[in-house]
Amino acid sequence: MKLISVGIIGLGAIGSRLVEILTKEFHDKVRVDSICDIKEERIEEIQGKWAPRAKSLPWPSLVARSDVVIEAASQEIALSVAKEALKRGKQVLILSVGGLLAWNGLSLVLKKTKGKLWIPSGALAGVDGVLAANEGRIHKVTLTTRKPLAGLAGAPYLLEKRINLSRITKPTLIFEGNAAQATRAFPQNVNVAATLALAGIGSKRTLVRILTSPTYKRNQHEVEIEGDFGSIRTVVENFPSKRNPRTSELAVLSSVATLKKIFGHLHIGT
Ligand SMILES: NC(=O)c1ccc[n+]([C@@H]2O[C@H](COP(=O)([O-])OP(=O)(O)OC[C@H]3O[C@@H](n4cnc5c(N)ncnc54)[C@H](O)[C@@H]3O)[C@@H](O)[C@H]2O)c1
Repeated sequence: MKLISVGIIGLGAIGSRLVEILTKEFHDKVRVDSICDIKEERIEEIQGKWAPRAKSLPWPSLVARSDVVIEAASQEIALSVAKEALKRGKQVLILSVGGLLAWNGLSLVLKKTKGKLWIPSGALAGVDGVLAANEGRIHKVTLTTRKPLAGLAGAPYLLEKRINLSRITKPTLIFEGNAAQATRAFPQNVNVAATLALAGIGSKRTLVRILTSPTYKRNQHEVEIEGDFGSIRTVVENFPSKRNPRTSELAVLSSVATLKKIFGHLHIGT
């Protein structure tokens, strides 16, 4: 049987775990054929530990030769990777979901392509509920994210608004806006907002609030949905991934679960 060829862009907390799962659990079906990372040491680590025969390629060449493309790198390339993969009729799993919000032509491309776009729930619970509710009428979707100070350090919005995190002593609302504004303001933090927006009523109508405090120890995402069906409220208290404190461990596990949907035979949930 011909093995499915997989290419992985970005070999950090998420990408490296996906290579591990693919080589351990799906080696009879799948071959990690090519990998891409701007850090040479990440390539060497993956080739040394899990995939000695994986070729290191620039991402456009990787997309061209893969049946399934996984992007776990950055918002800067997520949109181009998704466009190129779908244009070529490939399956593509995108982790840096915030990058997709700027794509006005997404639904048109999805109508034409032979490929598939996979977006995991990430660090959120409730995406299944939004998808189902959106088949009826949703009135309101709100995401309230509470993060420890360190989880927001370096965000462009903090510099622009001159918010000094070291002066914050109690729970403080530092951002309120829609999902489109949130992903620009906190590009490395709120992929969850983008996922929620794409699953539901879009980036302009999905509301986002971000709070921080020295007393917060975990990344908390609270999702509230109101619609004709009734209402949903979910709260997730996330531990950070050991490899990347900005990424929640649940996001890593969610991408593994999505991989099992792509290559496995059991699909549970909406
Ligand atoms: N969807 C979600 O819920 C969710 C949750 C957490 C993280 N993320 C996003 O997923 C992505 C991966 O997360 P992570 O925790 O593995 O990050 P990470 O920082 O641990 O790893 C990212 C890797 O990508 C590489 N990289 C960066 N830019 C690149 C480029 N242009 N070309 C090739 N390689 C590049 C980096 O060198 C690094 O090795 C990030 O964009 C992150 O924001 C999404």
